Amino acid sequence: MIVEIINKKRLGRALTYSELDFFFKGYLNGEVKDYQMSALLMAICIRGMSDDEIFALTKIFIESGDILDFSDIPGIKVDKHSTGGVGDKTTLVIAPIVASLGVPVVKMSGRGLGYTGGTIDKLESIPGFRVDLTEEEVKKQVKDIGLVVTGQTADLAPMDKVIYALRDVTGTVSSIPLIASSIMSKKIASGADKILIDIKVGKGALLKTKKDANKLSQLMIKIGKFYNREVRTIISDMNVPLGHAIGNSLEVLEAIDILRGKEKKSNLVDLCIELASEMVSMGKEISKDEAVKLVKKSIKNLSAYNKFLEMVEEQGGDIKGIKVNKKVQKIKASKYGTIVAIDALEFGKLSVSLGAGRINKEDSIDYGVGIYLEKMVGQKVRKGDVLARIYSDTKFEASFIENIFIIE
Ligand code: URA
Repeated sequence: MIVEIINKKRLGRALTYSELDFFFKGYLNGEVKDYQMSALLMAICIRGMSDDEIFALTKIFIESGDILDFSDIPGIKVDKHSTGGVGDKTTLVIAPIVASLGVPVVKMSGRGLGYTGGTIDKLESIPGFRVDLTEEEVKKQVKDIGLVVTGQTADLAPMDKVIYALRDVTGTVSSIPLIASSIMSKKIASGADKILIDIKVGKGALLKTKKDANKLSQLMIKIGKFYNREVRTIISDMNVPLGHAIGNSLEVLEAIDILRGKEKKSNLVDLCIELASEMVSMGKEISKDEAVKLVKKSIKNLSAYNKFLEMVEEQGGDIKGIKVNKKVQKIKASKYGTIVAIDALEFGKLSVSLGAGRINKEDSIDYGVGIYLEKMVGQKVRKGDVLARIYSDTKFEASFIENIFIIE
């Protein structure tokens, strides 16, 4: 049966729900071995999956763990997910904006692995901030202040976790049907009424082409329909890092700057306004244009910032204690020109090598290290201008970092 199922997929035929259920459950209980699951995943990668297979796999993932229920919290709960990017701190900005406009936000985030950071690590750079709330605490806090950002309170789609770990080491991560079921199963299990997905595309992202991003978008919307959840998607650029900061404390400080209206113009600010407006439009059932106005107002009148402070206080944190590394190295331009590119992937890798991210799950991270980009794509620079500041005790060869900035 196991080999027959692998062969069926290898020949490009659709598997039934019971075949998929047998195979994936069998993997969890040890009947299906790593090499057999790897073979099936590779066959899926090459042959693809029908919509019915994708719905079936999503269901199998969802039902492998807990399913959260926030229906006793009034209002439409909108969740947001990003497929992962370098310098992506949008949750820190948009969750308080959306909550300040009366749309309840319960955001369960993860830790970072590899060159994409995790919201939970960023929040932990705020001394005292608790990310291990219980389900009761989550419910109480969202009822009291309308906003909570924490780690997962339950075991959501545990089968996806196991399969993802195998995909990671068998070259099968980039399958669009597998990405769609993996992400959507966790989002549906986490109890949101509506879901916004930020699909990243570019050098620093999982998906490298707009065509693949569009395919993933359509699939996720279809899965949402199947589960009666409104799903909207945004396809956003991940060729250059998002915003100026990469590294946990630096990213929280940048998010605070945006919420305080101090940083008004960057690709990050634009994306935050875009995402927050979609969430508000979904949560309040109003037009996107109306939502954009509300979002901008909530930043201008500091209600989003105050909501952020309320959350930090409620979860035990103190932003006055956020620390960045004392030693800073300035990277200067060696020639005159215009910055035509900043390689997001290279910067992501650099931030991990500084200690801002993890290579292995169990690695500890240094919250204070990171990179702050002084110059962005499109800006003109003169020889000697500071391109970036590196917060680290390790000294870097300026020429290495300079090569990440393409100046023409
Ligand atoms: N993120 C996920 O959670 N799953 C995938 O398959 C890819 C990105």
